[in-house]
Amino acid sequence: MKIGVLGAGQLGRMMAISGYPLNHQFGFSGNSSDEPSALLGHMFALEDNADNIKYLVDFADVITYESENTNVEVVREISKNVPVYPGEKSLFTTQHRGREKALFNQLNIPCAPYQMVSSEQDLIDAVNTIGLPAILKTATEGYDGKGQFLMRNISEITEAWKSMNGVESILEGFVNFKRELSVIAVRGIDNNHKYYPLVENTHHDGILRFTIAPAQNIDPTVQKTAEHYMQTLLDEMDHIGVLTIELFETENGLVANEMAPRVHNSGHWSIDGANTSQFENHVRAITGMPLGDTTPTHSYCAMINIISKIGPTNTVLNMPNAHLHLYDKEERANRKLGHINITANSQAELDESIKKLKDFLP
Ligand SMILES: Nc1ncnc2c1ncn2[C@@H]1O[C@H](COP(=O)(O)OP(=O)(O)O)[C@@H](O)[C@H]1O
Ligand SMILES: [Mg+2]
Repeated sequence: MKIGVLGAGQLGRMMAISGYPLNHQFGFSGNSSDEPSALLGHMFALEDNADNIKYLVDFADVITYESENTNVEVVREISKNVPVYPGEKSLFTTQHRGREKALFNQLNIPCAPYQMVSSEQDLIDAVNTIGLPAILKTATEGYDGKGQFLMRNISEITEAWKSMNGVESILEGFVNFKRELSVIAVRGIDNNHKYYPLVENTHHDGILRFTIAPAQNIDPTVQKTAEHYMQTLLDEMDHIGVLTIELFETENGLVANEMAPRVHNSGHWSIDGANTSQFENHVRAITGMPLGDTTPTHSYCAMINIISKIGPTNTVLNMPNAHLHLYDKEERANRKLGHINITANSQAELDESIKKLKDFLP
């Protein structure tokens, strides 16, 4: 099939790399020839321009997107002519932190207490209800910890509200977590579901730096709970494709943080560490193919993000159990340029490998 992707970044690039062996073709919407997907398919200009999007729609048998910030109106228009997966409901819900949390509450999925904020007075009221510490976030468009203010003291109210630049925001109670986890799953057009194991994520300055897959010492009941939350969300949104839920592991069990209606950085390990990668499974799902097995190929996998600078890649290339994935991007501060996947058969082997790659970690 011909797959059209709204966006042309590294996620689209990795979708294409996994989709070509299945005999699919790819087209991307993007503006410049130096985007990560540019050499992996036809490039059609600008995402939000109705005329230009037409050429991508003409090309494609099915359309997907790389970002939850994709314009819902554009997706609704396109859907009249060609299927878009995941559908409008998934996109509309996950691009707004308030709608996302309302859905968690509706489905009895635990999440932080929250209140929407559109003025300084709203923030005062919200702080009174929720208490401190709390995190003020823009309702939409945030990523890599951008658009967030951690409030510890009521004296910070004016400063915190000012930092939101007047946009609709959400105050969330601070969750005391032990670890950050995520779960990735895929749902097919035939309503089949497949789940990847919970993974553990470590962030630095708001950016994901490191994932361990599967997360170690997870009680099977905790995996089951995560899958139950996931299934409830997939079915409620009639979601087709990959869905990711970011979770906090707390003393009282799992607490949902946010969702992404797409392949996710915390699933990049699956390219080398699972029988079927998240990218291939997303492609299979949206093209109506049977879903692939999600079982890890090794007991210990890890993913290290390459951020800002490419670094000593020969170290990676000289290791038998490390795999380099670069995205064809220019070096720039805080930019995701690639990642390294490590596969190991013991904790000791994993630790040893991570030690060799310490130059890539903050
Ligand atoms: N309510 C919260 N309590 C504690 N930590 C939080 C909370 N919300 C976010 N964080 C921390 O900030 C990081 C980024 O927040 P997140 O909501 O995931 O935004 P982004 O869209 O930038 O990923 C999280 O991975 C977590 O470390
Ligand atoms: Mg997040």
